[in-house]
Amino acid sequence: MDVALEKRQVQRAYELYAPIYDFLFDWIFAPGRAAAIKHLELAPNDSALEVGIGTGLNLPLYPASCRLTGIDLSQEMLDKAIERVQTLAMPDVTLKVMDATAMDFGDNEFDKAVATYTISAVPDPVAVLREMRRVVKPGGIIVVLNHFKSQRRVVGLVEDLVAPVCTRLGWKSNLALQPLLREVGLVPELVARVNLFNGWRLVKCVNKK
Ligand SMILES: C[S@@+](CC[C@H](N)C(=O)[O-])C[C@H]1O[C@@H](n2cnc3c(N)ncnc32)[C@H](O)[C@@H]1O
Repeated sequence: MDVALEKRQVQRAYELYAPIYDFLFDWIFAPGRAAAIKHLELAPNDSALEVGIGTGLNLPLYPASCRLTGIDLSQEMLDKAIERVQTLAMPDVTLKVMDATAMDFGDNEFDKAVATYTISAVPDPVAVLREMRRVVKPGGIIVVLNHFKSQRRVVGLVEDLVAPVCTRLGWKSNLALQPLLREVGLVPELVARVNLFNGWRLVKCVNKK
């Protein structure tokens, strides 16, 4: 069952989530966040893009030497990230409101890109991953951390059943990993299960162009 997620619906949802997002989603998603940023293998002076940076919960995990750009569709979520950058006094972070399906960056502008808990919250995950491939240099690392549709039949059916409700809340519960990667031409180097009940997958790819 495919249920469409609309851009306006996402903006409305995250406008509401922004004040309570950290309270709800900090601790529960923390192990996956640490693993995702570690797997970016950031070297000094690497330029990294975080897609759908939200309130910036990953910010403390980046090395100080990293040149980071974060984008998000929601001004309200980004306002929280701006506060966090100021609190952490991070010198080289740029934050922009931007639709990840049509990024305002040139080809091959970044060494690395990451999207944590974002790819099932965007209306068009294929377009977002294609954009990530376009703006990351050949050979650069792309890390995606997300819940994907379970490979277990019964769990997958339940995820299909609850999809209309989840879509109303702002995310897709039944996004399948392998068809998504195939469609954008990404071959994972690593797929690791993370977080509570191993319910989320960390996918690390090298951007072969
Ligand atoms: C579940 S939150 C994840 C936030 C953050 N990455 C984290 O790890 O906590 C999903 C984020 O994706 C953003 N988002 C959804 N669609 C987007 C799009 N097309 N372009 C940019 N950001 C988008 C939302 O505004 C929201 O902040």
